[in-house]
Amino acid sequence: MKKIHTVILLPLLLTLFLAADSPAASQFRQDYIKALDQNNFTALEYYGRTGKKELPVEVRALLKEAREAEVFDDRMHLMDIAASMAGMYRHWHGDANLLAEVEAFMNEEIKKENARIAEFEKWNRYETLPGNLVFRERMAQMEARGLSPVLFPHWVHRLNYECKACHQGLFTMKRGVNAITQANITEGRQCGACHNGTVSFSAKENCERCHRAGKPGDDTLLIPEKYDLKKIKETAARVGSAWNPEKLKDGKFPLDRLGFIDWSAMKDNGVYTPLKAIEKGYREELRDNTIYYEPKMTFIKGVLFSHKTHSTRAECASCHQDLFKDTLGGNPATMMDMSTGASCGACHGKTAFKLADCNRCHTVTQGAPVEGALKRTPPPAGK
Ligand code: HEC
Ligand code: HEC
Ligand code: HEC
Ligand code: HEC
Ligand code: HEC
Ligand code: HEC
Repeated sequence: MKKIHTVILLPLLLTLFLAADSPAASQFRQDYIKALDQNNFTALEYYGRTGKKELPVEVRALLKEAREAEVFDDRMHLMDIAASMAGMYRHWHGDANLLAEVEAFMNEEIKKENARIAEFEKWNRYETLPGNLVFRERMAQMEARGLSPVLFPHWVHRLNYECKACHQGLFTMKRGVNAITQANITEGRQCGACHNGTVSFSAKENCERCHRAGKPGDDTLLIPEKYDLKKIKETAARVGSAWNPEKLKDGKFPLDRLGFIDWSAMKDNGVYTPLKAIEKGYREELRDNTIYYEPKMTFIKGVLFSHKTHSTRAECASCHQDLFKDTLGGNPATMMDMSTGASCGACHGKTAFKLADCNRCHTVTQGAPVEGALKRTPPPAGK
């Protein structure tokens, strides 16, 4: 009896909605879910007692739907209902097999979900450096060939290339939307636009230089200090960018307050001059103005957004119109949005410096005039 209660008393609101909403839901299921929803034990007892025929049919249908559901939470919601029905079936009709089947399925699913989370955490640490991405969408095929997931270091590429060399021409600036495959690469597209044996090492061999996460030596891509600076010079000479290590202080990458490479400082000091395109004759589009963001709260400094520094790095299309409408004051900008990857947070905290580095954006004392900047703050309330 205790078992049935714990099963019945699970908070099922969302679930119920989900399962009852499915077009396939029979009248019996809808009624049962309603009773569960309302904690109507009299009704549940009635469906349990009279449902000798319907309960097994519904439990099997729910199991099937759960197997087909893509999201773990949806599967579990369906299984919560199935478990309740199977519990009733055992109680009123003395057959525990159905409940055992449901529980076995749930245990298996929970085990798989835990394994998925552990797998995620295992690769997550490779992404702590801003812009390091682990590609493991095609994990099964890679494993079959004994290969590790691919570790893509934005920072190694930034040494020689501006964002616009890759975005948007080769890759849309968004994770997981570019359907990168080995076939595309060996045919000279995507990574293969450069990893062709001419611009950089060929992807027809050198498998482990990319399929590298978790392999010995991957730390050179995780800790920039371990990267061979002499190699950067060779690469720059080959691809035609500029790298002037003699301008580095102590021969080391300048680091920001949080310990990541300070790209602005490197650029300002003329340490590196990345290429804007891989093809010749690229026509760059720039916008040379500064936009002043004045927060409503007076205790926090204002923010200057330089179209110039951003449009030298990124194409207009990397920001307009998906991320920002190109109208002054036309886009909300809150720290909350940024922390979820919207607005400035689409890059800052990912490939560009972190949001935790407040003072690099909040630089202007409010009220002080900002020469030449476009002021975008809406008029104060009441006007
Ligand atoms: C050598 C090519 C290359 C360069 C240069 C490059 N990127 Fe990327 N970027 C990629 C690839 C590849 C992806 C992953 C796309 C995918 O998963 O489909 C990516 C993804 C991203 C993402 C989404 C990542 C996330 O965590 O959501 C952002 C943001 C981004 N790049 C910003 C930039 C910025 C800013 C620059 C310049 C400072 C830059 N990229 C330079 C190749 C490049
Ligand atoms: C715009 C040209 C370009 C594109 C596109 C590009 N790369 Fe690279 N990549 C380079 C260059 C140049 C280097 C520096 C190594 C060298 O050639 O000296 C490099 C280095 C690397 C490294 C470091 C390897 C090492 O041993 O130092 C990895 C890993 C890598 N690329 C993976 C990728 C992947 C994965 C993609 C596609 C998602 C990609 N690259 C797209 C040009 C490119
Ligand atoms: C320049 C980097 C790079 C090199 C070098 C490279 N790969 Fe890949 N490979 C990738 C990327 C990126 C993916 C996409 C991974 C994902 O999204 O799961 C990939 C995917 C794969 C896959 C998954 C299935 C598929 O067809 O996409 C296999 C298998 C694979 N590579 C084999 C190889 C082999 C074998 C070699 C050496 C001959 C090699 N790769 C060299 C970058 C590279
Ligand atoms: C890094 C992202 C980014 C890039 C790259 C970028 N913009 Fe913008 N743009 C913005 C932001 C942010 C605003 C301010 C929107 C607001 O006030 O809500 C803006 C505003 C604008 C506006 C209205 C204000 C003004 O400047 O007159 C225009 C027009 C515009 N952008 C055009 C462009 C063009 C053309 C390019 C390429 C040369 C470009 N932008 C590149 C982020 C970007
Ligand atoms: C990448 C640039 C950037 C960084 C880094 C940044 N901010 Fe902001 N912040 C902004 C912009 C842009 C606004 C919008 C200003 C406005 O209201 O027009 C803003 C707004 C705010 C506001 C006003 C209320 C809100 O949430 O919108 C506060 C408070 C704030 N930031 C605090 C911080 C603190 C604290 C940090 C560091 C932990 C930080 N910011 C880091 C760009 C940044
Ligand atoms: C398309 C990617 C992208 C977006 C979106 C973006 N930034 Fe940046 N931003 C960069 C890159 C790249 C740098 C160079 C420094 C770095 O990589 O850490 C940079 C540098 C800066 C700097 C340093 C000074 C300078 O101009 O070089 C400030 C301040 C800044 N961004 C503010 C903002 C604000 C505010 C927003 C949103 C309104 C924003 N950024 C949106 C990519 C982006």
